[in-house]
Amino acid sequence: MAIYDQHNRIMRDLRISVTDRCNFRCRYCMPEEIFGKDYTFLSNEHVLSEAEIGRMAAIFVGLGTQKLRITGGEPLLRKDLASIIERLSSLGADDLSLTTNGSLLARKATELKAAGLHRITVSLDSLEDDLFLKMNGGRSRVKPVLEGIDAAAAAGLSVKVNMVVQRGFNEDAVVPMVNYFRERGHILRLVEYMDVGNTNGWNREHVVSKQELLDRIGEHWPLEAIAPNYEGEVATRYRFTDGKGEIGFISSVTEAFCGSCTRARLSAEGRLYTCLFATKGHDLRALLRSDLSDDDIAQRVSDIWNGRHDRYSLDRGTEAAPDRQYGSKVEMSHIGG
Ligand code: GTP
Ligand code: 5AD
Ligand code: SF4
Ligand code: SF4
Repeated sequence: MAIYDQHNRIMRDLRISVTDRCNFRCRYCMPEEIFGKDYTFLSNEHVLSEAEIGRMAAIFVGLGTQKLRITGGEPLLRKDLASIIERLSSLGADDLSLTTNGSLLARKATELKAAGLHRITVSLDSLEDDLFLKMNGGRSRVKPVLEGIDAAAAAGLSVKVNMVVQRGFNEDAVVPMVNYFRERGHILRLVEYMDVGNTNGWNREHVVSKQELLDRIGEHWPLEAIAPNYEGEVATRYRFTDGKGEIGFISSVTEAFCGSCTRARLSAEGRLYTCLFATKGHDLRALLRSDLSDDDIAQRVSDIWNGRHDRYSLDRGTEAAPDRQYGSKVEMSHIGG
């Protein structure tokens, strides 16, 4: 079965945040000034348990969800991650992936693969230690992340790498990153810097557009557009004309893709968000911890999705969503992108 929202979009993907904690302090997500020593993260009883995550994901799969992605915070900080993956993998969704900063991956890649993970996406914004340390709040050098990527590939997980590009900060890192991952056969996706959450001081001038990135990369390696893997794929795909792999662009700012957005997001505390930029979530944890049956909960989820009309990126900068004057948006660290 499939369920539809107000713009006729089905609910095909569920992104599940398993923790709001992270061992990095990326400037654009959890700036140290705000997420410092005194910051209070969710306590264990407020975070969904492995069983609750499994039950909720099963309800979503029953409603037609085919793609599951585990996010955070940093999901590898969760001690029972392999058990969560085992549960999710038993649901038989077409796709089970995970987004990570990669710093702890080298030790865990084999275990994650064995638990049933299909593939992995690693975030990395530079190959230079100085810049990378500046971006992640001094928490990690590049080497452990590259070792994590190698370990994941060696364990048999296919790997994608996400790079968020910020004007005047890491734009010069684009060409070296393209070169590095092209040589290793991993798909690099260049992500336009977005105004997620409320703390990153986003400004349009910080965005390097997909077109500009395409032009810059094209000067080194000619590219041609290729068809999406499936309808509504977030990244637009390009192949290197010399036959050496592909890259992707995620252009939420200059070419919004809300028209085909099939993604639901479940926060670590069990709130359902129907958009990355949502100002309001729906408390599913309370339903899980009540005496409602799976069918009752499925009906609630279905009602929420049926009422959905989110299209923030299409509205960005218009009267419907004026830059920097929108309500308080959900934090990136709560829904993992
Ligand atoms: P694939 O399943 O491999 O295609 O992954 P994905 O691109 O859907 O997910 P990933 O976690 O790799 O996200 C890549 C980037 O796209 C991150 O910066 C996300 O925040 C962003 N992103 C993912 N989904 C959406 C979305 O629905 N809206 C917007 N605006 N950005 C999104
Ligand atoms: N804009 C674009 N992408 C972002 N991410 C985190 N913050 C932003 C932002 N402001 C990315 C991370 C990770 C993914 C889940 O979201 O780098 O790859
Ligand atoms: Fe950085 Fe991801 Fe951690 Fe946010 S959750 S601080 S983007 S590593
Ligand atoms: Fe989907 Fe919201 Fe992103 Fe648009 S801005 S693609 S509706 S998550």
